[in-house]
Amino acid sequence: MKTKRPLVGLVETGDGSWSLYHEELGVHYRSQHGAFTESRHVFLEGCRLASRVGVWRVLELGFGGGINFLHTAAMARACGSSLEYHTIDWAPVDPTTLQALHQHAPPAMQPFSALAQEVTAQAEPSELIAYAEAPEGDIRLWLYPTPWQDAAIPIQFGAHAIYHDPFGPRVNPEGWGVDCFSWMRQRIADDGILATYSAAAHVRAALVAAGFALAMTTGPVGKREITLAAVDHSVLSMYTLLSTERYRQKALALF
Ligand SMILES: C[S@@+](CC[C@H](N)C(=O)[O-])C[C@H]1O[C@@H](n2cnc3c(N)ncnc32)[C@H](O)[C@@H]1O
Repeated sequence: MKTKRPLVGLVETGDGSWSLYHEELGVHYRSQHGAFTESRHVFLEGCRLASRVGVWRVLELGFGGGINFLHTAAMARACGSSLEYHTIDWAPVDPTTLQALHQHAPPAMQPFSALAQEVTAQAEPSELIAYAEAPEGDIRLWLYPTPWQDAAIPIQFGAHAIYHDPFGPRVNPEGWGVDCFSWMRQRIADDGILATYSAAAHVRAALVAAGFALAMTTGPVGKREITLAAVDHSVLSMYTLLSTERYRQKALALF
């Protein structure tokens, strides 16, 4: 059996950066208002990786076009940090499409496209983990081409950043429930931050039900606010903290 490759098209977004469109599902992989702006604002800045010294351990749900990966790798290289990037995607985009997409990326990101292409080329059902690393040894990439439940990432993995980045709940409901967030709660470091582009009350309720403390900040263009989550509110003190009690009540009513 071959890996399920999505049928995708390339699209230019509002900030001049490029992203992908999933023809079958009718959804964009990144915000139409600005793919790179969204990636940087929600995930890289949201998780505060630039202020972390040493190794950055990232766990991502949804590799997609690899935009978050290219961005994070370029930032790690610029900061002199090393990157361990673990990403899960049950329908990896084919490497030729990634190559075409990444040709539109800024020069500092382009060297990392080869790693993205390498892991997606390896991704077959028999291959439970695909792996590639930069010749310099500072950027390492693991792709788990499976549903998130089947990804061989151990409990207490200690992710410094979790990029929660499936499609929205209408298309990927299994990525937004208490079970998915509980799985992530077991794999985040005590000082790690989970970032999601969603500000929906039911998503925040599911995060609280999974044991997360919450905060919010303004969103990128086209989005009023986004949500950050951590083991403890003290990790999120730079953001506007959200009431755990309020979302616990909501969770009791919903789940
Ligand atoms: C919004 S796109 C990710 C965009 C990507 N992070 C980027 O920077 O280009 C969502 C991706 O999540 C994957 N995905 C959605 N639900 C999933 C699940 N339950 N398990 C594994 N992968 C999933 C999809 O196949 C899709 O490639």
